[in-house]
Formats: sequence, structure tokens, C-alpha cells
Amino acid sequence: MLCEITGYDAISLQPNSGAQGEYAGLLAIQRYHQSRGEGHRNVCLIPSSAHGTNPASASMVSLKVVVVGCDDNGNIDLDDLKAKIEKHRDALSCIMITYPSTHGVYEETVRDVCELVHEAGGQVYLDGANMNAQVGLTSPGFIGSDVSHLNLHKTFCIPHGGGGPGMGPIGVKSHLTPFLPGHVETGTHYAVSAAAMGSASILPISWLTSP
Ligand SMILES: Cc1ncc(COP(=O)(O)O)c(C=O)c1O
Repeated sequence: MLCEITGYDAISLQPNSGAQGEYAGLLAIQRYHQSRGEGHRNVCLIPSSAHGTNPASASMVSLKVVVVGCDDNGNIDLDDLKAKIEKHRDALSCIMITYPSTHGVYEETVRDVCELVHEAGGQVYLDGANMNAQVGLTSPGFIGSDVSHLNLHKTFCIPHGGGGPGMGPIGVKSHLTPFLPGHVETGTHYAVSAAAMGSASILPISWLTSP
């Protein structure tokens, strides 16, 4: 069901929060670059409109954060994005974008943003914390993203901020599938949490209230 609504090819249920999903997704991107002999790519572009966990997660995996400016309405400034891509082209690892943005805006240039980054050899991390506003209208896979987390303790679930357990699974396109975290029991090479499927006990709530 998660593959269907996201447009991705595979899901890892390991991450226990949105932030941990970001961490896992960025690790998958890094491992992908390394597998292609491009492990030197270490720049992560992040628009100034991003949620605070985005730069924090990028720092956790030792990526260098480069901020992309936004216009007065909070939209990613495409001219600034092009300039930053050009400046960091050889070292570009990825961009982290949020759709709809943290301002609640469906940015019309989102597919252009993905294309510009891909053209420079980078990957697109689309923060899916606001996925409930995409379902049935569009999907990260359609938009052109490579990996996203879903805040399933928020989307289709209970109000955020209760301080309870979280569930931040990540979805990926097929080229990133070999780099998903898993669990020793499933024969995967690395894990991001101790439990095989994160805080799976939350999922009946998300499942019951999903569209
Ligand atoms: C856009 C966005 N990204 C990431 C997160 C982080 O998720 P979590 O609090 O589950 O770590 C949130 C949390 O609300 C968010 O709104």
C-alpha cells in the first residue's frame, strides 16, 4: 500500500521517526554514490524553508549543508538553486525538499527542481512528512524524487507532538533498493533500529484511518 501511494518501488519499515527516516534515506543515497565510485559527493542542498530536522540529519551523516534561498512567498529560488548546483556540481550528493512545503504550498517548480539536481548527478530526498496532502493527487515517485520518509505517526494517524513512539518508514526508487536498511533476520547488511520493523504497533492506527 505504501509503494502504491508513494510511487516508490520498495519500503523499509525500520526508522522510528521522521528524523530517523531522513538519516536512513541519506545513508542509502551515500551508499548508492559509493557503489558508483562517487563517494566523494558530500554536499546536501537544503532550502531555507526546510524543517529543522533536514539539516540536522544531513550533519549526522557528515554531509556539508548548503542553504538554497527562497523568495518572499517561501518558494525555492530557482536562480539561487542553479547557482548553487553549478558551484558544487562535482561534490553534489543530494537535495532535501519538502512537498507540499512546510508553508503548506504546492510549489509549481518541484519537478524542475528534481530534474536540475539529477542532471548534475545528485539524488532527491523528498521529505514526506506532509504526505497526507499528496495522496490521491500526486506522489513523490511521480514528482521525480528518489527517496522519502513518511511520518506515519502523524499522517493517517494521531496528532503530532504527543511524545509517543514514531514510525518513519522510507520509500525508494529501484536503484536505491539495495541500500535500504533492514535487519539481520532479513539478511540485510545494516540496520538503523533494533527492531526489525521499527515501532510497528503504531501501524494499525495508520492503516485503519488511511484513505
Ligand atoms: C517537514 C517535516 N520533516 C521532518 C519532521 C520530523 O519528523 P519527526 O518529528 O517524526 O522526527 C517533521 C515533523 O513534524 C516535519 O514536519
